[in-house]
Amino acid sequence: MYVCLCKGITDSQIRDAVCAGASSVRQVRKQLGVMSQCGKCGILTKEIVQETVEQR
Ligand code: FES
Repeated sequence: MYVCLCKGITDSQIRDAVCAGASSVRQVRKQLGVMSQCGKCGILTKEIVQETVEQR
């Protein structure tokens, strides 16, 4: 599903970035560009990053 509509980023892309080594929202943002426009995707992005980091 799309998390960030502004940039067209999906939850799988966020999970993949975390599995590939990104361990914070800041790193995911830098890599994918998520949260870089309206910011509405911030809360969901944080949840997905936290959840995936815990499962790693
Ligand atoms: Fe992600 Fe707008 S939905 S920056």
